[in-house]
Amino acid sequence: MPSIRYPKIKNQNFTIIFTCLGVCISLFGCTSNSQKSTSLAELETSKQGMVVSAHPLASEAGQLILQKGGNAVDAAVATAFAISVVEPFSAGIGGGGFLLLGTPPENLENQQKYKIQALDFRERAPKAATRNMYLNQQGEVEKRASLDGHLAVGVPGTVAGLYTVHKYYGKLPWSELLQPAINYASNGFEVSDRFRDRLERRLDIINKNPEAREIFTKDGKAYQPGDVLIQNDKAQTLKTIAENPQSFYTGKIAEAIATDMKANGGLITLEDLKDYTPIWRNPVCGKFRQNKICAMPPPSSGGVHLLQILNIVGDTNLRQWGRKNPDTIHLLAEAMRIAYADRSKYLGDPDFVNVPVKQLTSRGYARKRRQEINQKQAKPSRKVQPAAPETLGRYIWESPDTTHLTVVDEERNVISMTFTVNGSFGAGVVAAGTGILLNNEMDDFAVAPGVPNLYGLVGGEANAITPEKTPLSSMTPVIVTRDGKLVMAAGAPGGSTIITTVLQVVLNVLEYKMNVAEAVSAPRFHHQWLPDRLILETGGFSEATVDELRQRGHNIEMWDGWGNANAVVVTENGKLEGAADPRGEGEARGVGESGSRE
Ligand code: GLY
Repeated sequence: MPSIRYPKIKNQNFTIIFTCLGVCISLFGCTSNSQKSTSLAELETSKQGMVVSAHPLASEAGQLILQKGGNAVDAAVATAFAISVVEPFSAGIGGGGFLLLGTPPENLENQQKYKIQALDFRERAPKAATRNMYLNQQGEVEKRASLDGHLAVGVPGTVAGLYTVHKYYGKLPWSELLQPAINYASNGFEVSDRFRDRLERRLDIINKNPEAREIFTKDGKAYQPGDVLIQNDKAQTLKTIAENPQSFYTGKIAEAIATDMKANGGLITLEDLKDYTPIWRNPVCGKFRQNKICAMPPPSSGGVHLLQILNIVGDTNLRQWGRKNPDTIHLLAEAMRIAYADRSKYLGDPDFVNVPVKQLTSRGYARKRRQEINQKQAKPSRKVQPAAPETLGRYIWESPDTTHLTVVDEERNVISMTFTVNGSFGAGVVAAGTGILLNNEMDDFAVAPGVPNLYGLVGGEANAITPEKTPLSSMTPVIVTRDGKLVMAAGAPGGSTIITTVLQVVLNVLEYKMNVAEAVSAPRFHHQWLPDRLILETGGFSEATVDELRQRGHNIEMWDGWGNANAVVVTENGKLEGAADPRGEGEARGVGESGSRE
């Protein structure tokens, strides 16, 4: 069989020359330091259905399933399994994630309104995990122990999550949905520049694991763009999952993972795998203008802080201020600072700690925190504290309410799903004989109070390691509705930057009335309280704006692009518009009128 080729990456007309900071590359997987573009994403339109993901072959897999009559759930399952093969460094069956499922009233019994449900299939800490497992005998954090190798791996949830959502809401047979991924794994696909870049950054750790070395390198050297990568073990594993998804948790795949863990000092056992269960949760929802915004609840911090920042914006007419106006950037940066300060103290797995979601997302609390913001002067992060519990206690709920893929079908069912193996190539280890690249999600716990994780995020008691607990996430799949109708769905990868990327994509559509291609392309900024710095996308803001923000006391860092967002918007006339971030290599694929690509 010939190998699978995919269309050359779009947007070859580079408009801006970036300089790329090393830290940015290694942490957030932003674009490499060659000439890169913030040129406009390609806009795909369709009446019937749309799939957008971070890789053209994965989008094609989902498109194929929609064309065969599958619904959004079917297409999302096919796209996600394909991502596991063609973008294994980002996400896959060795990791976990979150999804939101939106269904219009006519598609479910006894349902009056557009319904949004959240499924948590994030990794969990193994039963043998302990609070201080990453500390040495001196009580210091053992460098990289939560990032590299078998001890860094959380119990994977992707297969269980996809199977669960399909079991309840899928239409086509499960085994059919894995076929594109099986083809990509067994026939191979062309490695891209992006794949090679990620691989080279993690080559040291990959070369230490014989299984990963065998699959992802040629005698220890990275595959190069245009090389065809075949993953035979993964193809076999996918065939097994196609026949029986439970084999990942109780069958021969589970046995292979547990054996590999035992042989290499990992903690995951057969018991851990057997007991893994995805959890349906209520999304966190709030109002912004006339829109209902629903996003992922804890154990992701994404939804809480997305709503918190939007609440702090409140009625301020950002549109009138202008998107790149220093006043706008300042207000949003100060709001981000407050939100991430609260994140460090209050957010964790709600099944283990009490997370004050209603208070943190209440408008009254947001109004109080807004008063702290001086529009003329940035407040140093050391002076911005998480809310005192007694202050937070006064606020009540006021409203009756790491790769991302977005799929919408003809009936306007939607899946907005973000999933991950955490760092690039996860823990850098493959369970022997399975082809499964395993995550390093344990690093998303606070390995010790105040010790920053891969993304510089700090946490405390609420996110301490406990057996079977879920590490705190920033993943922010979002669905927006208005008057009971779907308006948009979006999400992004990027660790701690996910929340602020999604925030800006949502504001770009709802507040700045951009089309979806403009919304995912527009330059971004990010603040996360600690470290105390305001990151601006290189080339995206005028010198005068940057100077003004410096004058107000912001510690400015210029970074190359980050985020790799994607989104689908329903236009006023009911059409679907989709776009993938031009910073990545993703693609939107429509079906039907003005959307089908042959
Ligand atoms: N692993 C990144 C996140 O979940 O936020």
